[in-house]
Amino acid sequence: MFKEGQLYSPVATEEDGTVTVHLAHDHPGANDPDYRRRREAIAAAALAWTPGDPAPIIDYTIQERAVWCRVLAELAPKHERYAVVEFRDALARVNLPRDRVPGLDEVSDRLHDLGGWRYLPAAGLVPLDVFYRALGDRRFHCTQYLRHPDVPLYTPEPDIIHEVVGHGHLLATPTFGELHRLAGVAAQRLHDPESLDFLARVFWFSLEFGVVVEEGELRAYGAGILSSYGEIEEFRAMEHRPLDLRAMGTAEYDITAYQPVLYRAESVAEVVEVVGGFFAGCTDQSIAELRRPTAAAAR
Ligand SMILES: [Fe+2]
Repeated sequence: MFKEGQLYSPVATEEDGTVTVHLAHDHPGANDPDYRRRREAIAAAALAWTPGDPAPIIDYTIQERAVWCRVLAELAPKHERYAVVEFRDALARVNLPRDRVPGLDEVSDRLHDLGGWRYLPAAGLVPLDVFYRALGDRRFHCTQYLRHPDVPLYTPEPDIIHEVVGHGHLLATPTFGELHRLAGVAAQRLHDPESLDFLARVFWFSLEFGVVVEEGELRAYGAGILSSYGEIEEFRAMEHRPLDLRAMGTAEYDITAYQPVLYRAESVAEVVEVVGGFFAGCTDQSIAELRRPTAAAAR
């Protein structure tokens, strides 16, 4: 079931100023007090940040560095096999460190030179409208914590690996960076929360979990797949459906498991035409029409 709050573990500031990160009972770090304390310290650093200041500098632990190094090492050969060409080209241009977790401003400086994007520090939950509208100005809200070391191959919530390795390389590409920006400009146009929810679902099934035929084989362009070295081995075996805005924008999904149904484009040009065309032109009215049950579906 889709819930905005499912995307992140909610962060709360108590009356005495302490920061609490609420991890779901089945979160891999739920019963790990050291992990919870660490999440709270990193969230507190983001909450203390004010726009215009440098992003918080996190002194990552040896264990956190080990998670980063392991995931990047596991992903590297899989990106070669499964990622779209533009993403693979961006790997060299962004040139993330593989032996340490980079600072947010360090990554922003690289991305800014490659297409104008910058990361904004986020403690956790960012309201959908805030998150998407910032994309229209080439600003991306980014967490700085790492997934729990017991489950490095997948995270149900977006950690710095998802944001920087998955989205960051897409932001540095001409095609997918522009699709992120167009989604943000669309969000700036929309007023109806139901429209934004529809937009977020189309984004989910494209820039998070999109797959596309390129050079005769199925490849991934979704940041969720490209930042999960477990899921990236599975997407070719999932159920694939043709791009369909009405279906994508109204489909339910569960972020706690691999996505069983993926929407497949037959070319990158089709992604640009269908998804990019939707982002570029959608309005509250056009989305209301897409959300209206069709005669065939009502039967
Ligand atoms: Fe994401």
